[in-house]
Amino acid sequence: MQAQEAVTASLPRIGQPAPDFEAKSTFGPIGLSQYRGKWVMLFSHPADFTPVCTTEITEFARRYNEFEQRGVQLLGLSVDSVPAHLAWTRDIAQRLGRPVPFPIIADLDMKVSQLYGMIHPGESETATVRAVFFIDPEGIIRALLYYPLSLGRSVDELLRVIDGLQTAAKHQVATPVDWTPGQPVVVPAPATAGEILEAEEAKARGLQYETWYLRRRTL
Ligand code: BEZ
Repeated sequence: MQAQEAVTASLPRIGQPAPDFEAKSTFGPIGLSQYRGKWVMLFSHPADFTPVCTTEITEFARRYNEFEQRGVQLLGLSVDSVPAHLAWTRDIAQRLGRPVPFPIIADLDMKVSQLYGMIHPGESETATVRAVFFIDPEGIIRALLYYPLSLGRSVDELLRVIDGLQTAAKHQVATPVDWTPGQPVVVPAPATAGEILEAEEAKARGLQYETWYLRRRTL
């Protein structure tokens, strides 16, 4: 129970600066701060040479250009060693026909995993869960996802999260349920009586109006 509480207390939160770190990786030593100015997707997997993780890393590598197009740097992590990562990614690369194009951190001492709350003792004391941190160019955590060991992630959903975050940041809007790029976005709800009146006027002008606190617009 004490270990559980310690982990819960140290979970980074949305809107907080992403804790900086330096670590060994398949691309040599890296630090989070070197990616300042770029979006970063920091994700953990439980272990090298395991089936679900292999499907994930293979798919992240196969669709890497879709992350690149969005200006997102992928950083993988597990508590395996650099040699284990290299042997595993080489095996993946041989089947994929090209190298795994992003670093995978070797977090043997669990320093980064602990910093990011990636160890969930109820799931495993020794392996990271499938955590994903979306970090903006200023180094602020904008979203985080946690999946259990048994559940592989969806690349489509990860890209959708990135698209939603980048759209919200660029246009100061929000994105509704199941939103994908090209669909209408949601404008902030009125916060004053005056803004409610403005919203009513928007309805009269034929903007997409469902109720005074739910209006959509096309970007
Ligand atoms: C997997 O990637 O298949 C896996 C890893 C750790 C525990 C269970 C499954």
